[in-house]
Amino acid sequence: MTDKPIIVALDFDSAAAALALASRLDPALCRLKVGKELHTAAGPQIVDALMKQGFDIFLDLKFHDIPNTVGSACKVAASQGVWMMNVHASGGEKMMAAAREAVDSVTAAAGKKSLLIGVTVLTSVSQEDFSRMGFGFEGDLKAAVGFFGELAYDAHLDGVVCSAQDLDIFKWKRKEFLRVTPGIRLAGDAAGDQSRIAAPADAIKMGASYLVIGRSITGAKDPIATLQQINHELSLIEQKATV
Ligand code: C5P
Repeated sequence: MTDKPIIVALDFDSAAAALALASRLDPALCRLKVGKELHTAAGPQIVDALMKQGFDIFLDLKFHDIPNTVGSACKVAASQGVWMMNVHASGGEKMMAAAREAVDSVTAAAGKKSLLIGVTVLTSVSQEDFSRMGFGFEGDLKAAVGFFGELAYDAHLDGVVCSAQDLDIFKWKRKEFLRVTPGIRLAGDAAGDQSRIAAPADAIKMGASYLVIGRSITGAKDPIATLQQINHELSLIEQKATV
């Protein structure tokens, strides 16, 4: 199992709310994700503030634009020193190549490498939603996930974002090709807007490298205890695997 597999999604609308939770979390126990809501509310300064507290930051802005724009945005994010960032693989090979080149150019200068991953198909999209979107693939969502995963792999990205339910598609990929899996729910949690969901231990067993967990932790009565409980459950899988 990857070291520190849990990435807590700080989906808050203010720096104060995000920092309040972060100050109770331990960088030894999790990494943090800054997405569109928090970044729009609090700007890149929130990323700096969280990194100062010792957290690895996954900047989840899911860039999707012309190659030059995406490359330039990725360069800024890499210069800021984020641990991981992402783009939509559906932006195409040229867009991903521009992102890769931009991230690598900063890596070369700073001697530190940001990870770059590609979103395949959002975990909120169900097979039924997908069939109505008219994206082709004969309406087959899994075929689209596989296709965009291939595209990301061929563009030398470091991995993909996909649902736990799609992880079987990436079994053949080299081990270090990361599988970042949102849509994680604990027993009894509401699915909310997510469609293709899985429990933390199941997702890891199916091959996830990292689990992105938002509301199941941030909305829990005791977020810290919930995080510790999930880490504990995951450590049991690890023990079983090594016995
Ligand atoms: O609260 P919940 O656990 O559903 O949050 C999931 C997080 O992962 C959200 O911040 C969402 O933006 C993000 N995400 C996702 N699906 C993707 C990529 C990112 O749900 N494909």
